[in-house]
Amino acid sequence: PDERQALKARIRRLLKERNAVMVSHYYVHPDLQDLAEETGGLVSDSLEMARFGRDHAAQTLVVSGVRFMGETSKILSPEKTVLMPDLDATCSLDLGCPADAFAAFCDQHPDRTVVVYANTSAAVKARADWLVTSSCALDVVGALKAQGHKILWAPDRHLGSYIQRETGADMVFWNGACIVHDEFKGFELEALKREHPNAKVLVHPESPAEVVAMADAVGSTSGILKAAREMDAREFIVATDNGLMHHLRLQNPGKTFHEAPTAGNSATCKSCAHCPWMAMNGLADVARVLETVANTIQVDAAVIERARLPIDRMLDFTA
Ligand code: 13P
Ligand code: SF4
Repeated sequence: PDERQALKARIRRLLKERNAVMVSHYYVHPDLQDLAEETGGLVSDSLEMARFGRDHAAQTLVVSGVRFMGETSKILSPEKTVLMPDLDATCSLDLGCPADAFAAFCDQHPDRTVVVYANTSAAVKARADWLVTSSCALDVVGALKAQGHKILWAPDRHLGSYIQRETGADMVFWNGACIVHDEFKGFELEALKREHPNAKVLVHPESPAEVVAMADAVGSTSGILKAAREMDAREFIVATDNGLMHHLRLQNPGKTFHEAPTAGNSATCKSCAHCPWMAMNGLADVARVLETVANTIQVDAAVIERARLPIDRMLDFTA
């Protein structure tokens, strides 16, 4: 604990010295979430992280999360220094959607509007017409459908098929998945619901359809938090990365939250629903990158110029 406190004090001092602000995702370690909030930064979902980084006056952003979040911040603010605790913190959706193969897929469907999830590389975003996160995907695709667009969707097949079921849009899909949410299981969730009959089920839409079908509320990380605050219930089962438990419990003292079962939930693995890449973010790394200005995010200027279009569309749409 002393070492943690010392690291936190060092980070607070370095943030001031470097005129830097910290932006953390809800899935990173609670220490990094708390530090961001305590120091005037932000802990939020991927959409609001992007907006906050763009609008904040600080010249240096420390993005605790995964690589696509740092890249989005850099695309929106190329003049800023964007630091990440670990540049190898990626995402299975990003890894599973290489830019070249994705461009070839788009070429096969020239009549479709390309809607890409935020969890992708800058190069994939540079091929998109629209960017979305899980908090605005339904509304964006719904609006595009109303305008007569046919959609090419990438990369998360579960989120894509959820949006298709909800909007009825004509969509073709890239076959990607989040390794964390893909593990939530319907059968085991049924059993847990029987154990907790009064619990409401909150689900991130990167989860499989059988799990989404059992949800009382489906939403992004911030959507799940909102549902937990507003729903008239005392007990919840939550199908998302267990990093979200920190804010669920902080915002709802007196309410009880259970983790939804994953394939890996067993005597040896009590909390398998945690993203291995989000887990790569640590206090010591944040202190080190602020001290050395190592781990800066770099994005090619031509990619920035093109990738900015779909991101700006999303931010304008949700403003
Ligand atoms: P949110 O956009 O809901 O924050 O989700 C990002 C993410 O990586 C979910 O796994
Ligand atoms: Fe990617 Fe899933 Fe990790 Fe989110 S939780 S960063 S979607 S692998």
